[in-house]
Amino acid sequence: MFTKKIETKVAIHELIAMRWSGRAYDSAKMLTREAIMSLVEAARWAPSCFGDQPWRFLVFDKATNKTGWDKALSCLVEGNRDWAKEAPLLLLACADSVLSQNGKHNRWGQYDTGAAAENLSLQAAALGLMVHQMGGFDADKTRTEFAIPEQFTPMAMMAVGYQLPLEAIPDDIKERENNARARNTLDENFFEGHWGEPIIEEL
Ligand SMILES: Cc1cc2nc3c(=O)[nH]c(=O)nc-3n(C[C@H](O)[C@H](O)[C@H](O)COP(=O)(O)O)c2cc1C
Repeated sequence: MFTKKIETKVAIHELIAMRWSGRAYDSAKMLTREAIMSLVEAARWAPSCFGDQPWRFLVFDKATNKTGWDKALSCLVEGNRDWAKEAPLLLLACADSVLSQNGKHNRWGQYDTGAAAENLSLQAAALGLMVHQMGGFDADKTRTEFAIPEQFTPMAMMAVGYQLPLEAIPDDIKERENNARARNTLDENFFEGHWGEPIIEEL
């Protein structure tokens, strides 16, 4: 397994530094049921507005439900399907648009579902697994294929699996896998006290 652990000026937790969205999955290595349950348990404990837990995850384990996994794969756009076809586990994260406690619109449903997806991704990193989230899929098709009720919005597909060793990564994706990870500088996205005022590094 090769890592793309980032070096940060300020120390962050190793799991956060290690997590990245690779595309080279080892199709021969299935996930144990224990690993899958550990991922969903991590997602389960995400925080949510009013504790409403608006996320729903559909799980497609290639080892035990090839038909469902095939259907999920077929919902991806071609550019994602090309590499996600090697991932032994696919998930679909959906967000409730209605608060279960009062039937009102839940404007935090998608926010909370993202938090659950990140919990799952970090738990995967802790287990030596890789997750790649995908917005590139046909949401209407997933709705039809998996009978997703109207009040739930299909948000992201997730590919999960073990990484291929570096020497086994196919040439067509090797370059992309090796790309340096990058982010905006802190002052572009993190303000202090007033919109647009960069956070102060040293007071
Ligand atoms: C909601 C969401 C949708 C994404 N959609 C895609 C996608 O359709 N295809 C893809 O290759 N990567 C997709 N990504 C992965 C991002 O491109 C990736 O997270 C970003 O470039 C940062 O890289 P890192 O996760 O390795 O740090 C998506 C990520 C998120 C969170």
